[in-house]
Amino acid sequence: MRAFNAVSSRFHAARPRHTTRLRSARARGRSASPPASDRPTIVGEKNERPPARSSQGDRFMSSDAIVLLKDDHKRIKKLFRDFQAAGENATKTKGDLVTKIIEALTVHTYLENEVMYPEVRTLLPDLEEDVLESYEEHHVADVLCTELFAMQPSDERFDAKTTVLIENVTHHIDEEENDWFPKVRAGLSRKTLQDIGAQMADMRDKAPRSPAQPSALKKTVDAIIR
Ligand SMILES: [Fe+2]
Ligand SMILES: [Fe+2]
Repeated sequence: MRAFNAVSSRFHAARPRHTTRLRSARARGRSASPPASDRPTIVGEKNERPPARSSQGDRFMSSDAIVLLKDDHKRIKKLFRDFQAAGENATKTKGDLVTKIIEALTVHTYLENEVMYPEVRTLLPDLEEDVLESYEEHHVADVLCTELFAMQPSDERFDAKTTVLIENVTHHIDEEENDWFPKVRAGLSRKTLQDIGAQMADMRDKAPRSPAQPSALKKTVDAIIR
């Protein structure tokens, strides 16, 4: 327990100092405008940043937090489908896909844990229960990802553990997209969601890519002791 506490305090000491910008985003979200449910935000109105057009021309790039997270979900679910379609004996292919799944989930849950969830928890206290349940679902995914990271694709339980990970994360994504993200969309202004999305975009390059990195381990430990 003493060693565990020592590890924990090291993680806390190394906590990234990203909160200043988050707080300023939070302050802007609170003071600049009331929630979207009270006053719909119109693109082009004063202080409203219009979305930039991408190089593809027909698709808008957006820093809207929910749009960014849903894009991640789409990529993650594609990897899930590829794994499920790979076939029983496609050991190498499935191993490569699980490596990509672990990386995608490690980045995604980190950005949600460190940026999206704390912001929602502060700005929309009514969603506290949804956020806490989501932290726990992330923790289950973290544990499974950590175990899979240490396994070989040829291990007896590799496919079964991946299947359980896919089932759990699919359920979690469905809840986010169908249950509480719509409440977040209704409760926060477009500007606030863009601020939160910009914070996540800034943080993406620094996010851990493997469960063995200290910032990923810290997330797993936080879920137990915080
Ligand atoms: Fe999530
Ligand atoms: Fe998510």
